[in-house]
Amino acid sequence: MAELGVNIDHVATVRQARRTYEPDPVWAAVLAELGGADGITIHLREDRRHIQDRDLQLLRQTVTVKLNLELAAVDEIVAIACRVKPDQATLVPERRDEVTTEGGLDLTALGTRARDSVARLRDAGIAVSMFLDPDPKQIEAAARLEADAVELHTGRYALARRAARAAELDQLVAAGRLVRQAGMALHAGHGLNYQNVRPIAAIEAMHELNIGHAIVARALWVGMESAVREMKRLIAG
Ligand code: PXP
Repeated sequence: MAELGVNIDHVATVRQARRTYEPDPVWAAVLAELGGADGITIHLREDRRHIQDRDLQLLRQTVTVKLNLELAAVDEIVAIACRVKPDQATLVPERRDEVTTEGGLDLTALGTRARDSVARLRDAGIAVSMFLDPDPKQIEAAARLEADAVELHTGRYALARRAARAAELDQLVAAGRLVRQAGMALHAGHGLNYQNVRPIAAIEAMHELNIGHAIVARALWVGMESAVREMKRLIAG
């Protein structure tokens, strides 16, 4: 069964709306763990729009499951990751004017920056995952960089309807096969929710799903523990 990484960025988004101390993502992580989360995922963005350096420090000290840090391949944030040592680092693209991560990395455009970031994270003992569109060229590039895992971007699948969604799912299944054949672990995430998660969780050898918005939204009504428990139940199929 795929593991569930609960992305708690949006808890910090609400806190930052008032620049106050609540709700605290550290509390959210505790409750997510109690609900059965296999991992906690956060994105320390260069503009610090939600997760703050303090959150990363405290979560490193308190999270007992896998701590997965999403980050851009930029010097400052890679240096922080190497110092704080999350269990896993997921390299993602980042643009200041985006509402959320909009697509996978372009490893060709990143060039040596990707190679340098992977080497530094590896040397610090951190497993490296790469957030990619289901594009064979990008998956081959990740394999050449010896990534430990690829997180397939499920955003287009999540937005598509009916026949278009089936086509997106086919592409993810094929991409998943390439990831596994290259010896990398298969992860997926973005836009997954209680309605669309099952076919993605059922992809062969799916190892980790990272889900944030839908769980934090559901937690408003039923609480974090229950929201996580319900998502785990759907992933179990
Ligand atoms: N995976 C990656 C790489 C992401 O950037 C995000 C969003 O921060 C997620 C998963 C979670 O996406 P969502 O909030 O839509 O579940």
